[in-house]
Amino acid sequence: MANKWSPSSWRSRPIVQVPNYPDAGVLAGVEERLASFPPLVFAGEARALKNQLADVAEGRAFLLQGGDCAESFAEHGADNIRDFFRVFLQMSVVLTFAAAKPVVKVGRIAGQFAKPRSSDTETKDGVELPSYRGDIINGIEFTERARVPDPQRQIMAYRQSAATLNLLRAFAQGGYANLYHVHQWMLDFVDDSPLSERYRELADRITQTLDFMSAVGIAPENHQRLRETDFFTSHEALLLGYEEAMTRIDSTSGEHYATSGHLVWIGDRTRQSDHAHVEYFRGIRNPIGMKCGPSLEPDQLIRLIDILNPENEPGRLTLISRFGAGKVNDHLPGLVKAVQREGRSVVWCCDPMHGNTISAAGYKTRPFDRVLSEVREFFAVHRELGSYPGGVHFEMTGKDVTECTGGARAISEEELSDRYHTHCDPRLNANQALELAFLVAELLKESRESSPAKVAAAG
Ligand code: PEP
Ligand code: CO
Repeated sequence: MANKWSPSSWRSRPIVQVPNYPDAGVLAGVEERLASFPPLVFAGEARALKNQLADVAEGRAFLLQGGDCAESFAEHGADNIRDFFRVFLQMSVVLTFAAAKPVVKVGRIAGQFAKPRSSDTETKDGVELPSYRGDIINGIEFTERARVPDPQRQIMAYRQSAATLNLLRAFAQGGYANLYHVHQWMLDFVDDSPLSERYRELADRITQTLDFMSAVGIAPENHQRLRETDFFTSHEALLLGYEEAMTRIDSTSGEHYATSGHLVWIGDRTRQSDHAHVEYFRGIRNPIGMKCGPSLEPDQLIRLIDILNPENEPGRLTLISRFGAGKVNDHLPGLVKAVQREGRSVVWCCDPMHGNTISAAGYKTRPFDRVLSEVREFFAVHRELGSYPGGVHFEMTGKDVTECTGGARAISEEELSDRYHTHCDPRLNANQALELAFLVAELLKESRESSPAKVAAAG
């Protein structure tokens, strides 16, 4: 990889999952406009996230990443953002308490629009149309017109991301995330669920602790960390023309950063080492992620790490594994052992969603039990190998949707049609997401109780 990198050097590489824009001139015009727009995030923030992820890589923090599979123009609104943010905060306090470590909070939000598809076309009642590729590219309606990729959608996605990020920054820093509000983050429909009691108990304990701390002089008024939280954004940087336009030189370091989000990741379908996406990612200085599915071999992984993190910087690379329940043992140990053998620093994060999608009652769904099983298998492999299970990655929403089956308030296959709103993959609803956080918290507690000796022995 001695070739010179530039934000556009990906253009001379093979590429998959690209939309077929009808007019290259219009597309180029939009990209030029985007390149003149303000950055959505700053390089210094991306560096702060990288430092926090370095703590995860070294076992001192835990990563929570989550949000929509695909953000949509239709679901853009303050209530959705607030409901997502508060269930995410609830999950993060549950995990912080269990891990007794900081939780690094990264939303799949404010930029998560472009989707890779398993097929270029979709057929319904004998009619074949181009697949929906996310609102940043084309429309979800099954009409010929909606499915034509429209470059103007990139401008709309940029503006929606800016507005979303603006509200998230206000929530994170303007008082909403103050730990004293831990009770107020209860969601109405979580309120009468079996989980509410557990959450309330935890919130009581946190409030008691805060009261004690306040009595000894550590209070939100004088401690920013109690008043505010760090919240970062992430998305799959699939649409490289958009990403190139948002890539800017940081005036402090003179290096290139993707300013479309703090962390960007490479999807499981676009991680070929000689292709465009890997080329783009190797040159940006953000913390980056890469999805690791069943087709990734250990030697390929090491080659990709050589390209993406040649200096072996902790926090630079998060490996997001997604194999499917029952398959983790076939794939993950080989990857973990290769990383250990080569002495590479990575964050290991478990995406228990994408390997567990099934069809039921005419819908794409994910059984809660299988999602949980994959997380358990992920923790078990890391425990066995003396490696650190660094985080979890969920597709979730703050709304009471019916997209994944199961959970404590068991959603049946028949109920999927009640509130199935996702534009792409099925998401955990607020109850299921919080329930999963409590279950992951138990795993974290177990590994906290059992792993130090094991890790020391292995090291
Ligand atoms: C996704 O995260 O929505 C996705 C498409 O994942 P993957 O690349 O792992 O299939
Ligand atoms: Co998805």
